[in-house]
Amino acid sequence: MSLVQPFNILPRPALPGEFVPVDYFRRVEHGELSRDGRLLEVDLGCGDGLFLREMAAHYPDREFLGVERLLGRVRKVGRKLVRQGLGNGRVLRLESRYTVEWLLPEAAVWRLHVLCPDPWPKARHHRRRLIQPGFLAAVHRVLQPGGELLFMTDHPEYFEWAVARAGDYGRFERLPWSGDEFFYPKTDFQELWESEGRSMFRLRLGKPGTAGIAPDRQIEPRIDTNRHEL
Ligand SMILES: C[S@@+](CC[C@H](N)C(=O)[O-])C[C@H]1O[C@@H](n2cnc3c(N)ncnc32)[C@H](O)[C@@H]1O
Repeated sequence: MSLVQPFNILPRPALPGEFVPVDYFRRVEHGELSRDGRLLEVDLGCGDGLFLREMAAHYPDREFLGVERLLGRVRKVGRKLVRQGLGNGRVLRLESRYTVEWLLPEAAVWRLHVLCPDPWPKARHHRRRLIQPGFLAAVHRVLQPGGELLFMTDHPEYFEWAVARAGDYGRFERLPWSGDEFFYPKTDFQELWESEGRSMFRLRLGKPGTAGIAPDRQIEPRIDTNRHEL
Protein backbone atom coordinates (compact mmCIF):
# COMPACT_ATOMS: atom_id res chain seq x y z
CA MET A 1 0.00 0.00 0.00
CA SER A 2 1.29 3.44 -0.89
CA LEU A 3 1.50 6.18 1.70
CA VAL A 4 1.46 8.89 -0.96
CA GLN A 5 -1.31 11.39 -0.28
CA PRO A 6 -4.04 11.07 -2.94
CA PHE A 7 -5.05 14.70 -2.54
CA ASN A 8 -4.35 17.66 -0.41
CA ILE A 9 -6.89 19.54 1.71
CA LEU A 10 -4.57 22.31 2.88
CA PRO A 11 -4.87 25.84 1.51
CA ARG A 12 -1.23 25.42 0.45
CA PRO A 13 0.43 22.58 -1.46
CA ALA A 14 1.61 19.72 0.75
CA LEU A 15 5.32 20.01 1.43
CA PRO A 16 7.79 17.31 0.49
CA GLY A 17 7.81 14.71 3.27
CA GLU A 18 4.71 16.15 4.88
CA PHE A 19 1.91 13.97 6.23
CA VAL A 20 -1.45 15.60 5.60
CA PRO A 21 -4.42 13.82 7.21
CA VAL A 22 -7.40 13.33 4.93
CA ASP A 23 -9.53 14.92 7.65
CA TYR A 24 -8.20 16.79 10.69
CA PHE A 25 -11.47 16.21 12.55
CA ARG A 26 -11.47 12.45 12.72
CA ARG A 27 -8.96 9.89 13.87
CA VAL A 28 -6.62 8.79 11.13
CA GLU A 29 -6.71 5.15 10.09
CA HIS A 30 -3.86 2.87 11.15
CA GLY A 31 -3.08 2.24 7.48
CA GLU A 32 -2.56 5.96 6.81
CA LEU A 33 0.24 6.01 9.37
CA SER A 34 1.96 2.71 8.91
CA ARG A 35 2.33 0.25 6.05
CA ASP A 36 1.67 -3.45 6.65
CA GLY A 37 1.47 -3.11 10.43
CA ARG A 38 5.04 -1.82 10.74
CA LEU A 39 6.06 -0.30 14.07
CA LEU A 40 5.19 3.37 14.29
CA GLU A 41 7.24 5.84 16.32
CA VAL A 42 6.06 9.41 16.88
CA ASP A 43 8.35 12.31 17.82
CA LEU A 44 6.33 15.17 19.37
CA GLY A 45 7.90 18.59 18.86
CA CYS A 46 10.50 17.19 16.49
CA GLY A 47 12.17 20.57 15.91
CA ASP A 48 14.73 20.42 13.11
CA GLY A 49 14.36 16.63 12.97
CA LEU A 50 17.89 15.31 13.54
CA PHE A 51 16.61 12.54 15.85
CA LEU A 52 13.75 11.68 13.48
CA ARG A 53 16.02 11.36 10.45
CA GLU A 54 18.65 9.31 12.23
CA MET A 55 16.02 6.94 13.59
CA ALA A 56 14.38 6.59 10.16
CA ALA A 57 17.77 5.82 8.60
CA HIS A 58 18.67 3.32 11.32
CA TYR A 59 15.32 1.50 11.28
CA PRO A 60 14.17 1.35 7.65
CA ASP A 61 11.46 -1.21 8.55
CA ARG A 62 9.76 1.13 11.00
CA GLU A 63 7.61 4.21 10.29
CA PHE A 64 8.39 7.58 11.85
CA LEU A 65 6.13 10.59 12.24
CA GLY A 66 7.48 13.91 13.48
CA VAL A 67 4.97 16.42 14.84
CA GLU A 68 5.91 20.08 14.82
CA ARG A 69 3.89 23.28 14.94
CA LEU A 70 6.34 25.65 13.23
CA LEU A 71 6.02 25.69 9.46
CA GLY A 72 9.68 26.60 8.87
CA ARG A 73 10.82 23.57 10.85
CA VAL A 74 8.27 21.30 9.16
CA ARG A 75 9.54 22.48 5.79
CA LYS A 76 13.15 21.83 6.77
CA VAL A 77 12.47 18.36 8.24
CA GLY A 78 10.40 17.25 5.25
CA ARG A 79 12.99 18.50 2.76
CA LYS A 80 15.79 16.63 4.53
CA LEU A 81 13.74 13.41 4.80
CA VAL A 82 13.12 13.49 1.06
CA ARG A 83 16.68 14.45 0.20
CA GLN A 84 17.97 11.51 2.25
CA GLY A 85 15.46 9.15 0.60
CA LEU A 86 13.82 8.36 3.96
CA GLY A 87 10.38 7.34 2.74
CA ASN A 88 9.62 5.83 6.17
CA GLY A 89 9.75 9.28 7.80
CA ARG A 90 7.13 12.01 7.52
CA VAL A 91 6.30 15.19 9.34
CA LEU A 92 2.93 16.52 10.44
CA ARG A 93 2.36 20.21 11.07
CA LEU A 94 0.09 20.18 14.10
CA GLU A 95 -0.08 20.80 17.82
CA SER A 96 1.23 17.84 19.85
CA ARG A 97 -1.58 17.48 22.35
CA TYR A 98 -4.26 17.73 19.65
CA THR A 99 -2.42 15.09 17.64
CA VAL A 100 -2.36 12.61 20.51
CA GLU A 101 -5.79 13.38 21.94
CA TRP A 102 -7.78 13.70 18.72
CA LEU A 103 -5.89 12.49 15.65
CA LEU A 104 -4.01 9.30 16.45
CA PRO A 105 -6.06 6.09 16.61
CA GLU A 106 -6.07 3.66 19.50
CA ALA A 107 -3.13 1.28 19.93
CA ALA A 108 -1.30 2.70 16.90
CA VAL A 109 2.04 3.79 18.31
CA TRP A 110 4.89 1.69 19.57
CA ARG A 111 7.10 4.49 20.87
CA LEU A 112 6.13 8.07 21.50
CA HIS A 113 9.05 10.45 22.06
CA VAL A 114 8.86 13.76 23.95
CA LEU A 115 12.41 15.07 23.77
CA CYS A 116 13.59 18.36 25.20
CA PRO A 117 10.08 19.86 25.36
CA ASP A 118 9.50 23.41 26.52
CA PRO A 119 9.69 23.19 30.37
CA TRP A 120 7.48 26.23 31.06
CA PRO A 121 9.41 26.92 34.30
CA LYS A 122 7.14 29.58 35.83
CA ALA A 123 4.45 28.14 38.12
CA ARG A 124 1.70 30.10 36.39
CA HIS A 125 2.71 28.45 33.09
CA HIS A 126 2.80 24.87 34.34
CA ARG A 127 -0.60 24.20 32.82
CA ARG A 128 1.04 24.70 29.40
CA ARG A 129 3.37 21.73 29.96
CA LEU A 130 2.70 18.82 27.68
CA ILE A 131 2.85 16.23 30.47
CA GLN A 132 -0.55 16.47 32.16
CA PRO A 133 -2.97 13.81 33.46
CA GLY A 134 -5.25 14.08 30.40
CA PHE A 135 -2.29 13.87 28.05
CA LEU A 136 -0.96 10.74 29.79
CA ALA A 137 -4.38 9.10 29.48
CA ALA A 138 -4.37 9.92 25.75
CA VAL A 139 -0.84 8.56 25.37
CA HIS A 140 -1.94 5.35 27.08
CA ARG A 141 -4.78 5.05 24.56
CA VAL A 142 -2.65 5.56 21.44
CA LEU A 143 0.14 3.22 22.56
CA GLN A 144 -0.16 -0.39 21.61
CA PRO A 145 0.18 -2.86 24.51
CA GLY A 146 3.88 -3.03 25.30
CA GLY A 147 4.35 0.46 23.80
CA GLU A 148 6.36 3.19 25.46
CA LEU A 149 6.52 6.91 26.17
CA LEU A 150 10.08 8.26 26.26
CA PHE A 151 10.48 11.66 27.89
CA MET A 152 13.77 13.51 28.15
CA THR A 153 14.50 16.94 29.58
CA ASP A 154 17.37 18.96 30.97
CA HIS A 155 15.00 20.58 33.47
CA PRO A 156 15.08 18.77 36.86
CA GLU A 157 11.83 20.24 38.10
CA TYR A 158 9.94 19.34 34.91
CA PHE A 159 11.41 15.85 35.19
CA GLU A 160 10.10 15.48 38.76
CA TRP A 161 6.78 16.85 37.58
CA ALA A 162 6.58 14.19 34.87
CA VAL A 163 7.52 11.40 37.29
CA ALA A 164 4.86 12.60 39.73
CA ARG A 165 2.15 12.91 37.04
CA ALA A 166 2.97 9.41 35.80
CA GLY A 167 2.78 8.10 39.37
CA ASP A 168 -0.59 9.77 39.88
CA TYR A 169 -1.88 8.35 36.61
CA GLY A 170 -0.73 4.91 37.65
CA ARG A 171 -1.25 2.90 34.45
CA PHE A 172 2.35 2.88 33.19
CA GLU A 173 5.30 0.92 34.47
CA ARG A 174 8.63 2.70 34.74
CA LEU A 175 11.32 1.02 32.66
CA PRO A 176 15.11 1.39 32.88
CA TRP A 177 16.59 3.96 30.51
CA SER A 178 20.11 5.18 31.08
CA GLY A 179 20.50 6.01 27.40
CA ASP A 180 22.52 2.92 26.45
CA GLU A 181 19.78 0.28 26.31
CA PHE A 182 19.09 0.75 22.60
CA PHE A 183 20.02 2.94 19.65
CA TYR A 184 18.90 6.44 20.51
CA PRO A 185 20.52 9.30 18.57
CA LYS A 186 20.90 12.72 20.13
CA THR A 187 18.44 15.46 19.29
CA ASP A 188 19.41 18.91 18.05
CA PHE A 189 18.65 20.49 21.42
CA GLN A 190 20.34 17.70 23.34
CA GLU A 191 23.52 18.27 21.30
CA LEU A 192 23.38 21.96 22.09
CA TRP A 193 22.53 21.64 25.77
CA GLU A 194 25.09 18.92 26.48
CA SER A 195 27.75 21.06 24.78
CA GLU A 196 26.85 23.71 27.37
CA GLY A 197 27.38 21.18 30.18
CA ARG A 198 23.72 20.52 30.90
CA SER A 199 22.59 16.99 31.90
CA MET A 200 19.61 15.10 30.56
CA PHE A 201 16.99 13.35 32.69
CA ARG A 202 15.18 10.38 31.18
CA LEU A 203 11.82 8.81 31.91
CA ARG A 204 10.67 5.68 30.06
CA LEU A 205 7.12 4.56 30.69
CA GLY A 206 5.75 1.29 29.37
CA LYS A 207 2.14 0.43 28.73
CA PRO A 208 1.77 -3.04 30.25
CA GLY A 209 1.04 -5.88 27.88
CA THR A 210 2.87 -8.10 25.50
CA ALA A 211 0.65 -7.91 22.43
CA GLY A 212 2.76 -5.15 20.96
CA ILE A 213 6.17 -5.54 19.44
CA ALA A 214 8.93 -4.48 21.76
CA PRO A 215 12.18 -5.49 20.08
CA ASP A 216 14.29 -3.64 22.58
CA ARG A 217 12.55 -5.40 25.44
CA GLN A 218 13.00 -8.86 23.92
CA ILE A 219 9.26 -9.51 23.85
CA GLU A 220 7.74 -11.81 21.28
CA PRO A 221 6.75 -9.83 18.19
CA ARG A 222 3.16 -9.76 16.96
CA ILE A 223 3.91 -9.83 13.25
CA ASP A 224 6.50 -10.97 10.75
CA THR A 225 9.66 -11.37 12.77
CA ASN A 226 11.89 -11.05 9.74
CA ARG A 227 10.97 -7.43 9.27
CA HIS A 228 12.18 -6.14 12.58
CA GLU A 229 15.24 -5.96 14.66
CA LEU A 230 14.88 -8.34 17.62
C1 LIG B 1 12.96 22.82 22.61
S1 LIG B 1 12.52 22.30 21.02
C2 LIG B 1 13.04 20.58 20.98
C3 LIG B 1 13.10 20.05 19.57
C4 LIG B 1 13.59 18.59 19.46
N1 LIG B 1 12.71 17.67 20.14
C5 LIG B 1 14.98 18.48 20.00
O1 LIG B 1 15.15 17.92 21.08
O2 LIG B 1 15.90 18.95 19.33
C6 LIG B 1 10.76 22.14 21.16
C7 LIG B 1 10.10 21.96 19.80
O3 LIG B 1 8.74 21.63 20.02
C8 LIG B 1 7.94 22.47 19.20
N2 LIG B 1 6.69 22.62 19.94
C9 LIG B 1 6.53 23.27 21.12
N3 LIG B 1 5.26 23.15 21.53
C10 LIG B 1 4.63 22.41 20.59
C11 LIG B 1 3.31 21.95 20.47
N4 LIG B 1 2.39 22.23 21.39
N5 LIG B 1 2.97 21.23 19.38
C12 LIG B 1 3.90 20.95 18.43
N6 LIG B 1 5.19 21.35 18.50
C13 LIG B 1 5.54 22.08 19.57
C14 LIG B 1 8.72 23.75 19.04
O4 LIG B 1 8.34 24.46 17.88
C15 LIG B 1 10.14 23.22 18.96
O5 LIG B 1 10.48 22.90 17.64
